[in-house]
Amino acid sequence: MKICVLPGDGIGPEIMAQAVRVLQALDLKFEMEEGLVGGCAVDAAGTPLPEATLKLAREADAILLGAVGGPKWDTYPRDQRPERGLLGIRKELGLFANLRPAILYPELANASTLKPEVVSGLDILIVRELTGDIYFGQPRGIETREVDGENQRVGWNTMIYAEYEIRRILRVAFEAAMKRGRRLCSVDKMNVLETTQLWRDIAEETKKDYPEVELTHMLVDNAAMQLVRNPKQFDVMVTGNMFGDILSDEASMLTGSIGMLPSASLNADNKGMYEPSHGSAPDIAGRNVANPLATMLSAAMMMRYSFDDEASAQRIENAVKKVLAQGYRTGDIYEPGTRRVGTKEMGDAVLAVL
Ligand code: NAI
Ligand code: MG
Repeated sequence: MKICVLPGDGIGPEIMAQAVRVLQALDLKFEMEEGLVGGCAVDAAGTPLPEATLKLAREADAILLGAVGGPKWDTYPRDQRPERGLLGIRKELGLFANLRPAILYPELANASTLKPEVVSGLDILIVRELTGDIYFGQPRGIETREVDGENQRVGWNTMIYAEYEIRRILRVAFEAAMKRGRRLCSVDKMNVLETTQLWRDIAEETKKDYPEVELTHMLVDNAAMQLVRNPKQFDVMVTGNMFGDILSDEASMLTGSIGMLPSASLNADNKGMYEPSHGSAPDIAGRNVANPLATMLSAAMMMRYSFDDEASAQRIENAVKKVLAQGYRTGDIYEPGTRRVGTKEMGDAVLAVL
């Protein structure tokens, strides 16, 4: 099992170190190779996605990533911005399906800003399309042109989806729903956007192959509202790249902390990149306070989806549950009466259980 390890920027190296320890503790035959991506790669090689990194990623069976970005690179030209490294890997490997489970662990029932009765027992899965939509649509640009008799700077992006892109992500979502509660909510904005009218039509067509799954549609603005009003009404949600970006971050907060949330980005061959849902958290980087659990849970998803090793996935997930039950908390999930620990100490606790 060849794993390409990409720690990245900010808290990336700190949280990755703990996830790597957890994988090593499984005592399996991993080959791990580390590469540069993001701002650290810009600094070292002048590009956020060096050829050598792309090669590592292509040759590996799975990729484990920390996070990229930081204020240092915010003013760099767009093709030298850290996130281009991530988008590049997603695009090059065709990682079109982003799976983001939002699970509320019972021990963290009070960590959410929502009332416990609204979120307790929450277990939803957001399936986000990752390689199309307005984030990749051409043409795009900024130009100066005449608007209302005045020269104005105008920025534009194109929202575009081809049928095959919509079809394949919907299949992933229906398949996921089959393995869970068999309820799928497809989120769009079909009252305004043609792209999403097409999306809705294809969702209905795809449903014919999954008669057991109950399919509903929801407009994205309502979905944003329903996620905080009554999130437990959902089982699996599926949506495009931009709506999914926003809704999955919103959903993550239902569970208390973005520091708890893993994600998987898969291609047609179940090759995947696994990463925490959060970013590089520059505000807390280098201080041994970041929560490494989302990265460990991402490693668990890697065992499940890329290596088809459900037992190892559950070993990691159960170890995480156990340390939460033992009261260990990093700052983002701390509450009085629990044991506040740092990044490395959280790793120690998980390793002790494993
Ligand atoms: P962020 O997710 O890095 O941080 C948001 C807030 O959550 C911060 O207060 C941070 O301290 C906290 N946080 C995040 N992860 C945490 C963890 N593991 N433990 C404890 N607290 C945690 O999002 P933000 O601040 O919008 O972006 C910071 C940088 O990260 C930017 O450069 C952005 O472009 C990049 N970013 C990268 C992503 C990626 O690599 N996939 C995703 C999102 C943002
Ligand atoms: Mg995001």
